[in-house]
Amino acid sequence: MLSNNMITKLNEQIGVEFESSNLYLQMSAWCAFKGFEGAAKFLSTHAEEERMHMTKLFTYLGETGAMAVIPALSKPQQEYDSLAAMFEQILKHERFVTAKINDLVALSYEEKDYSTLNFLQWYVGEQHEEESLFSSLVDKINLIGHDGRGLYLIDRELGKQAAMSAGAQN
Ligand code: FEO
Repeated sequence: MLSNNMITKLNEQIGVEFESSNLYLQMSAWCAFKGFEGAAKFLSTHAEEERMHMTKLFTYLGETGAMAVIPALSKPQQEYDSLAAMFEQILKHERFVTAKINDLVALSYEEKDYSTLNFLQWYVGEQHEEESLFSSLVDKINLIGHDGRGLYLIDRELGKQAAMSAGAQN
């Protein structure tokens, strides 16, 4: 059985994951509008992954006899100065999500809630992968992606990554 405090914090995390999903979906619309079709596909695929992160929390709360409550969600940013600035923002956002997961892990230790601690291990691993992925994408964009040809190559690479992760999910 979860403490009321843990239920509140897990519900807050539902909001964080949902907002991540909406943010990446909105970013995909900006990319499509600007002609970055590969980046658009990559981000819409990633938005689906974030929705899955939200659903896992939603299901876990239900399994423990608590009620999942979806909080009010903020409106995602719609305009970006560049693809590079957008990916810098994603990396910053993922670091924020990691901090939220770490807070949940700390709380589960504090409360000796080993079921939630075990559940959260998946998110710890996932955040490590996501930070590593976006950090390497930011590096690549900074290396080659600021002019026309570089941006074209980055967009193509992101399209390939989206196709690969879609293939891995099927
Ligand atoms: Fe679910 Fe990318 O954090």
